[in-house]
Amino acid sequence: NNHLIEKRPEEHDALIATLPLEPFLERPFSFDQPYRLYKGVWMSEINLRGTLAMQQRFKSCPTDIFLASFPKSGTTWSKAMIFATLARTNNSLNQHPLSTHNPHQCVPYMEVEFATGKRQILEVIPSPRVMNTHLPYSLLPDSITESSCRIVYVWRDPKDVIVSMWYFAQKILGGADKMVTFDQFYEHYYQGLNSYGPIWNHVLGYWEESKRRPEKILFLKYEHILQEPVKYAKQLAHFMGCPYSETEENQGVVEQIVELCSFKTLKDFDVNKYGNLPTSDNINVTNASFFRKGEAGDWKNHIDSRDGRKARHYY
Ligand code: A3P
Repeated sequence: NNHLIEKRPEEHDALIATLPLEPFLERPFSFDQPYRLYKGVWMSEINLRGTLAMQQRFKSCPTDIFLASFPKSGTTWSKAMIFATLARTNNSLNQHPLSTHNPHQCVPYMEVEFATGKRQILEVIPSPRVMNTHLPYSLLPDSITESSCRIVYVWRDPKDVIVSMWYFAQKILGGADKMVTFDQFYEHYYQGLNSYGPIWNHVLGYWEESKRRPEKILFLKYEHILQEPVKYAKQLAHFMGCPYSETEENQGVVEQIVELCSFKTLKDFDVNKYGNLPTSDNINVTNASFFRKGEAGDWKNHIDSRDGRKARHYY
């Protein structure tokens, strides 16, 4: 698709070069690129490039649905749920695209498409388009915040987010020996120095806006969905304007979609065991790396046993 790739604006690179750089010497999770601080948010240069291009150029449609999340908060799962909910009339569940495609192949990650000059890919998604961003509310393009399109936001206990991220980073970087220690990683995270950090502002920004405009933002929590997936699957469908009919409910369609998108089902598909995700930079992300434990509270196995000083800062 080379003809779909456009040149990146040079003025963005010039702006990025003026932004503050991460104060740490070690790079826990930014691959080859340093983090920079843009309007109170730490981001890798590639994501910044994508963000600036997106803010300048993205045009939303009223029917668009955006999945927004802090990385490692349940993005993969939510992508699957949104995709399967919207596609349910077109796909029989036993031959579903999610059985042969990783959820990240079904719902594009906007900053990366923009960063790599492939924003046109977003224009050919059939309506209603579903797209994912990790941007905080404050950095979303005006075209998203000011139009009537809808945003699904998923958040998760920040303690589990850091544990999930710690393992994800290891898989990508090829082992714990390529990483800073968990203590250092934790310290970075606590100070907000993490891709799209700090997490606190991220969650608060969407929470406040969801209170102001509940019809615009559906604010979901990973742990709640884990407890009552059917309830939240229905809420999601209703919010997206495609509620389940009585017939569908009687036929058990909601339960089937929940089952299809469950951790176990998705993890066991061959595509998620053996496939790789094409990425913008020269890193290898396996589809399997998006499926680890899929539980709430794993932080107790990592943070509880720590010195307590840092654990207390969480509360
Ligand atoms: P753990 O590392 O705690 O297991 P993201 O999708 O935002 O990158 O987040 C990844 C986290 O979501 C990982 O958490 C992963 O195991 C979990 N996850 C992926 N698919 C899931 C699913 N279908 N149901 C529940 N959790 C899921």
